[in-house]
Amino acid sequence: MLVIGNWKMHGDRQRLAEVVAIDRHVRRGCSARVALCVPATLIAAARGSVEAVVIGAQDCHQAVGGAFTGRLSASMLADAGAQMVVVGHSECRAAGDDDAAVGAKVTAAIGAGLEPVLCVGETSAERDEGLTAAVVVAQARAALPGRVVEGLALAYEPVWAIGSGRLPQEGDIAAVIAALRRCLVDLYGVEGSDVPILYGGSVSAANAAALLGIDGIGGLLVGSASLSADSFVPILAAAG
Ligand code: G3P
Repeated sequence: MLVIGNWKMHGDRQRLAEVVAIDRHVRRGCSARVALCVPATLIAAARGSVEAVVIGAQDCHQAVGGAFTGRLSASMLADAGAQMVVVGHSECRAAGDDDAAVGAKVTAAIGAGLEPVLCVGETSAERDEGLTAAVVVAQARAALPGRVVEGLALAYEPVWAIGSGRLPQEGDIAAVIAALRRCLVDLYGVEGSDVPILYGGSVSAANAAALLGIDGIGGLLVGSASLSADSFVPILAAAG
């Protein structure tokens, strides 16, 4: 299992104590691979303070460099110590990332040696129209790389489940995972069977064990509950 915490725009240097505490838990024995995607300002310090936790970024720019004020390239994030990057998060899609940009970011991440975690997810309106599988498979197809690379992962995050306390039925998550798996196998053949597919959206200690029991799930992408060891460690414990 792969369990990733996405800190979003939360956390200053004081919160590095949580990174250290989470790393301590993982070092003591955790069967899951654990990553924390911290704000870019904390990547270098976080990387320097962990032994077992993978440190990631939350987004990257698709260009290698240039006149993009305020943006960060994948190679800059790797240079700061990131090993992974989330791309296509619905909060970035809402801010303007279309499928082409997300695909270019995946390519940039791979070029910089970062493990790309590609997020897909339907809006509430798309769900109501019965378009969930079609939307997420189209997002995946548009942005997945031409070949399977080390660390490639997909994360299914229904937009309406993020930060809302609302989750899809377990059967609905399983159906989306199955649709994404078919897409991966169609694109990559047998190698597509090994790409982890995570679930994200209102994951908590209360629901983690049930989510991790869903057929075909490869792990979790956790937002607010990853901000402290107190709330994240029980989720990691549910993974074994
Ligand atoms: O990327 C994780 C995220 O979008 C889910 O956030 O706070 O609902 O767990 P949250």
